[in-house]
Amino acid sequence: MIRKTLRLRTASPAQQDVPVTHVPALVYGTAWKKDQTADLVYRAIRAGFRAIDTAAQPKHYREDLVGSGIRRAIREGIVRRDELYIQTKFTSVAGQDRSNMPYDPQASISEQVHASIKSSLHNLRISETGESDDNSYIDTLVLHSPLPTLKDTIEAWTTVETYVPHHIRNVGISNCPEGTLEALYNSPQVRIKPAVVQNRFYADTGYDAAVRAFCRQHDMIYQSFWTLTANLRLLRSRPVAELANLAGISKAAAVYALVLGLQNTVVLDGTTNDAHMVDDLQSLDRIIALIEKNPDAWAAVMGEFRQLIGDP
Ligand SMILES: NC(=O)c1ccc[n+]([C@@H]2O[C@H](COP(=O)([O-])OP(=O)(O)OC[C@H]3O[C@@H](n4cnc5c(N)ncnc54)[C@H](OP(=O)(O)O)[C@@H]3O)[C@@H](O)[C@H]2O)c1
Repeated sequence: MIRKTLRLRTASPAQQDVPVTHVPALVYGTAWKKDQTADLVYRAIRAGFRAIDTAAQPKHYREDLVGSGIRRAIREGIVRRDELYIQTKFTSVAGQDRSNMPYDPQASISEQVHASIKSSLHNLRISETGESDDNSYIDTLVLHSPLPTLKDTIEAWTTVETYVPHHIRNVGISNCPEGTLEALYNSPQVRIKPAVVQNRFYADTGYDAAVRAFCRQHDMIYQSFWTLTANLRLLRSRPVAELANLAGISKAAAVYALVLGLQNTVVLDGTTNDAHMVDDLQSLDRIIALIEKNPDAWAAVMGEFRQLIGDP
């Protein structure tokens, strides 16, 4: 089964007055888009993407231009803020370019996180005037990676928690091995459990089988990146060709569909090509129709794909 949107766990009882967050299966990725970022984000929303991933890491992301692209789409009536899922990240000093970063690297971890979130809430504000960021919110704030020690990671995490639910709805982590995820999840200091884990999906980690299993067991969404760029072998594989043929979609879209078929998974899609944007979104509908019409064929390609990636 594939769902076009997945429900995120409710992060805390304090969130009961906040609408439950849903994340679309395809999340538009904004890394490395430089000056094109605002235009590409706008085009992605116009094409139908309703989830955007960015980071407070100017080295790789123009979060300020992500905000401009979103505001343009809202201004033109293409979408409302509450129809979008917006996710950004706190990037620790190790991942930043020291000459251009959103906080003082000498500050305490907690102060770094506060400054980074303040900057993200401003960049991703809805208000055009920029006078106040009071109404600005982030659907999920992701720690871009664990910090050098678990203690530091927990300090960053518990600082993010202070913004839930009003300015931040959910908390997640990226580039996180299974052991660290488990330690974070089980820490008595962690009040709000991770809602998402964003990791590289590739052969070197056994396609992250252990992390994905932990996510399924604990009601977290696994967000896959490098899904195409690191997986030429999958792109050229038999189940991918078979699914592409059966559903009449591209091989790239077939890889995305099979990864989504692993359950509790969404895919980061950072295409810069308008035709790919539309194709990737429309292919989801085709796959869902195929699954309804021919569940046995879907089960067969899914089984073959699981075997290929060594999934239990
Ligand atoms: N947390 C982290 O540390 C981390 C690291 C890396 C990435 N990310 C996130 O993940 C996002 C995606 O990055 P990625 O590295 O997975 O890959 P990507 O930037 O999405 O690259 C996908 C590549 O595949 C090509 N492609 C061909 N056919 C396509 C199709 N039908 N649909 C989509 N792409 C197609 C794209 O080219 P065209 O542009 O010509 O379509 C592009 O060169 C990033 O923007 C970022 O938001 C996070």
